[in-house]
Amino acid sequence: MKNENGGDPSSLSQSWRERQAAQQPAYSEGADLDGVLAHLRRLPPLVTSWEVEALRGQLAEAAAGRRFLLQGGECAESLSDCDTATITARLKLLLQMSLVLIYGLRVPVVRVGRFAGQYAKPRSADQETQNGVTLPAYRGDIINRAGFTVEERTPDPRLMLDAYSHSAMTLNFVRALVSGGFADLHHPEFWNLDFLEASPSREEYRAIVDSVRESLRFMEAIGEGANSSLNRVDFYISHEALLLAYEDALTRHVPRRDGIYNLATHFPWIGLRTAAIGGAHIEYARSIRNPVAIKIGPDQEPGELKRLVRHLNSDNQPGRLTLIVRLGADRIESVLPGLIDAVQSTGTSVLWCADPMHGNTEITASGRKTRHFDRIKFELEQSFVVHDRSASILGGVHLELTGENVTECVGGASGVTESDLVHRYLTPVDPRLNGSQALEIAFSIVGKRKRAI
Ligand code: PEP
Ligand code: CO
Repeated sequence: MKNENGGDPSSLSQSWRERQAAQQPAYSEGADLDGVLAHLRRLPPLVTSWEVEALRGQLAEAAAGRRFLLQGGECAESLSDCDTATITARLKLLLQMSLVLIYGLRVPVVRVGRFAGQYAKPRSADQETQNGVTLPAYRGDIINRAGFTVEERTPDPRLMLDAYSHSAMTLNFVRALVSGGFADLHHPEFWNLDFLEASPSREEYRAIVDSVRESLRFMEAIGEGANSSLNRVDFYISHEALLLAYEDALTRHVPRRDGIYNLATHFPWIGLRTAAIGGAHIEYARSIRNPVAIKIGPDQEPGELKRLVRHLNSDNQPGRLTLIVRLGADRIESVLPGLIDAVQSTGTSVLWCADPMHGNTEITASGRKTRHFDRIKFELEQSFVVHDRSASILGGVHLELTGENVTECVGGASGVTESDLVHRYLTPVDPRLNGSQALEIAFSIVGKRKRAI
């Protein structure tokens, strides 16, 4: 029984340790890293291997165009945001978006949250200087705290236990909500769709809402009330597998299954800054059985991508590997065709997913990070166009969003302007779409696909 409950403190996935791991915190000698990791290894997993395998099956269908992946949530989750209102609003938004996509695209949607573990952030510099004082950069609430004092910025391994417990609390509430169903989810008349009136595509979007409403009425009429499949949805979680000590402590053998599973999340991804083929993160991703994703940026060399794809999906298992492409609106048309060609030439199955957020971050004149709705929408639309042209399938979208009414991204029918950014700018890291902007993206995906068909 040594490894089955994670009780053996020795690492299960040893090989990543021999590689260089970028973006890791430097814990001080006095910090009880070993004690924390031993404790984490004894704690129960957050997800199960059968859920992980079910998700892999759904991602395989998305790769083949029979489903569509909607992956969305926080850039950086914070421990203080683990509250009823935040979790409810974000989940409701994702479920509303998924209904728009289901009834608009006529395929089931794979719903994946970017939360319940999204606590570690890669940074471009190890240090930050303010008014002549230099401290370690903020790396996410699982590593240190955002405040600018020595105490807050010193990496503390005990934060891993806080991140674990807050992930568990978040996931517990999400599981309860999705198994009970949200009453007003099935009634688009209760959704906040005011922004539609200001949209240039309002006629088209109204027709989509009507089609969602009709389909829901029909389903409710033929379903068995509270037990109808409408009230039970599959929902999965994902986060960037950045802090390898944490991921490793939640990586376990499972009885009667081969290999090891990351049981901290269903669907870990490797970020752009840690996706080097010889590095520890890719080695870690290779060693686990979960479906994994990697972020692909505009400097991705096609030959290297071929190697990466073969390396991470050497068995050519459908659903195993997702490529989350984040090129930016300016580069999508010139760079994506070559990347698709490269992957097609390997004959390996991948799920292509568009992240139209991370290539479109800019700094305003007043020094705030923002993203323009039109550029996000353009990158997403062009991703569909390029895939269609290359006889390939764009099977999903990856978005940073929140159900709160923030003003972090500029534009959209609800009309957030650059001068609004000061009002409700709450993100500690990247700017997120607010509820209206995110729903508008879902409508625009459907509108675009309907016109293309
Ligand atoms: C992120 O997803 O928040 C992120 C840091 O993205 P990337 O790795 O694509 O830069
Ligand atoms: Co981000």
